[in-house]
Amino acid sequence: MKALITGANKGIGFEIARNLGKRGYDILLGARDEDRGQAAVDKLVAEDISARFIKVDLNDVDTLHTASARVDSLDILVNNAGIPDSVKPGHPPLDLTKHTFDYTTEDLRATMETNFFGTHELTQHLLPSLSDKAKIVNVTIPISPTDFWHPLAYITSKAALNIMTLTYAFEFKKAGSQRQIFGIMPGAIATDLNGMEAGARGGFVKSSEAAGEIITHIILSDKNQNGQIIQYDGKVVTDYETQIRG
Ligand SMILES: NC(=O)c1ccc[n+]([C@@H]2O[C@H](COP(=O)([O-])OP(=O)(O)OC[C@H]3O[C@@H](n4cnc5c(N)ncnc54)[C@H](OP(=O)(O)O)[C@@H]3O)[C@@H](O)[C@H]2O)c1
Repeated sequence: MKALITGANKGIGFEIARNLGKRGYDILLGARDEDRGQAAVDKLVAEDISARFIKVDLNDVDTLHTASARVDSLDILVNNAGIPDSVKPGHPPLDLTKHTFDYTTEDLRATMETNFFGTHELTQHLLPSLSDKAKIVNVTIPISPTDFWHPLAYITSKAALNIMTLTYAFEFKKAGSQRQIFGIMPGAIATDLNGMEAGARGGFVKSSEAAGEIITHIILSDKNQNGQIIQYDGKVVTDYETQIRG
């Protein structure tokens, strides 16, 4: 069994790779930087996990096409790599104080480029390489704005990703395929993306290790989750209710 996880050199992606690896999956560890990717592979291999680096830079379409061409019989694709706003290396953490009117079109374009266009390009090119019962997993976020939560670029890009989840799921179902695509919302996780600490906000913020376990548990469920957007506690988000199921 084989799994490719994007953005797996650190954070949530690394922990998903570690958890799937511990369960016997051969890990294709996707990262945009070879040194950071190989360092993460070495950590997994030191834990007796079968892992190898595969270059996946969501802003470099050639790497996406090359990676797709190198993969076959893929059982799990986890589209995990993502950014909160800017695409600059060493980007600052998610800024929840940024005013909606301060987002430039370039902020939106850059975030869409990584979180949606790059992810779509990779997924589409991997379709012929999926095994019959393959699962495509999109790591996502709540997209309904609240007083506290309304980062325009981030939620716009993930909303597009969620629609991709629903429409791909519809095509799988229509074709009678056993393949699945679903989204997982891990909740607030302490990573470089937000600069938060595990346990903050009265324990609301979880560690990336906890996120890796939760996400892996949902991925490996025997249930048909095609077309679902699933929260960390297993609850299915119904804002996106469609006619895919039933
Ligand atoms: N943290 C949370 O609270 C939270 C909650 C819900 C969903 N998520 C989602 O979880 C996913 C992982 O985030 P995280 O919190 O683990 O953040 P993170 O620690 O910053 O990790 C992000 C990963 O994405 C990679 N990445 C960024 N831009 C890329 C690009 N253009 N091409 C390829 N890889 C790229 C990063 O690579 P580099 O190391 O090279 O920068 C890194 O490996 C994201 O999709 C995020 O939206 C996070």
